[in-house]
Amino acid sequence: MRPIRYGMIGGGRDAFIGAVHRIAARLDDSMTLVAGAFSSSPEKAIASGLDLGLPEHRCWPTWEAMLEGEAALPEDERVECVVIVTPNHVHHAPAKAALEAGFHVVCDKPLTCTDEQAADLVDTARQSGKVFAVTYNYTGYPMVRQAREMVRSGAIGPVRKVLVEYLQGWLATSLEETGQKQASWRTDPSRAGAGGAMGDIGSHAANIVSFVTGLRVSSFCSDVGAFVEGREIDDDTAVLLRFEGGAKGVLLASQVCVGHRNGLRLRVYGEHGSLRWAQEHPNQLHVCTLDGPDTTLHTADEGLSDAAAAAARLPGGHPEAFIEAFANIYRGAAAAMHAGRDDPDAFAYPGVVDGAEGVRFINAVVANSAAGWTEFDSSAQR
Ligand SMILES: NC(=O)c1ccc[n+]([C@@H]2O[C@H](COP(=O)([O-])OP(=O)(O)OC[C@H]3O[C@@H](n4cnc5c(N)ncnc54)[C@H](O)[C@@H]3O)[C@@H](O)[C@H]2O)c1
Repeated sequence: MRPIRYGMIGGGRDAFIGAVHRIAARLDDSMTLVAGAFSSSPEKAIASGLDLGLPEHRCWPTWEAMLEGEAALPEDERVECVVIVTPNHVHHAPAKAALEAGFHVVCDKPLTCTDEQAADLVDTARQSGKVFAVTYNYTGYPMVRQAREMVRSGAIGPVRKVLVEYLQGWLATSLEETGQKQASWRTDPSRAGAGGAMGDIGSHAANIVSFVTGLRVSSFCSDVGAFVEGREIDDDTAVLLRFEGGAKGVLLASQVCVGHRNGLRLRVYGEHGSLRWAQEHPNQLHVCTLDGPDTTLHTADEGLSDAAAAAARLPGGHPEAFIEAFANIYRGAAAAMHAGRDDPDAFAYPGVVDGAEGVRFINAVVANSAAGWTEFDSSAQR
């Protein structure tokens, strides 16, 4: 399949995730960068595009100019897909406009800031018939896909308990006050949305639970707050979960856990077995059953599910990680674009509905924090 032509919004000089998207898009030649509006500053937007070797007439000063200018180009030249890697408050408007202009969309998470914007994108995407992928990239790991297949096949029995955590330590101080770019917008509710740690990384934690177990949250109890003085958004969140069907879970999302880098960890306990996976050691999946013995499955082992095998590129023992998992999302989305069908299950990419569910969950967790606490006198016996 030829690479899909795309234009990027965000991801300019000094930006973080845009560069990862660009590498992931070309890892399998799924997509090729032909245009961009890379920054909120028009000068920087153009300079960033030139840095990447784009011709000057495809380096646009704003995303609005890019959508209009690209739509006016001949059909076999213009972008087919728009990739959105801006801070969260600049997701909804360009995604909606891109769909309405007839382009496919890949957008980073969280999909939008508000529930209304998220629902609007679901409607707009459906009406457009265009492909919409949301980069919940952790679902691209081979061993996460293996875990999903094992839950689906009943290998651990009906799920009873799910523990998921995403712990980081980089916001343990008020980094935002130093002007650090990524910290500044992430701690500003007008640009991040209502969720801080919950939106930034809790969104991934919630999504991986849904992806691997298929469980749907029926109720929850959350404790959302900030440890760093003056911070207007949560930097530490805990959620007790109940799922339809009776399973229970715990979700932790924190950015003040000193010593943790990208500690996304999932543990799933079924009636007769369990699965454990950790993002910082992503090529292993630990499996325990009542009958034993405990086993560790490795990426590219013989006998893994088709879904896991298809997500691996290298012989076992050559580490595959974040970039490759991200590239798997691009591979799936590009295949859907070639097929002209927005079908996340068939082509293995997270879709706009997954993105909208994530936004609703983040906002509900933040809005309903700390309901139902019981006072307890811990010094009564002393
Ligand atoms: N999936 C993941 O693992 C992952 C990881 C990191 C970030 N993200 C998400 O990616 C997005 C970007 O995060 P980041 O850390 O790269 O942020 P960043 O601050 O490093 O980069 C944001 C970029 O967007 C540009 N931008 C802002 N407003 C713009 C506008 N109006 N037009 C064009 N460009 C504009 C900025 O100039 C900058 O280049 C966020 O939604 C974040 O949640 C996802």
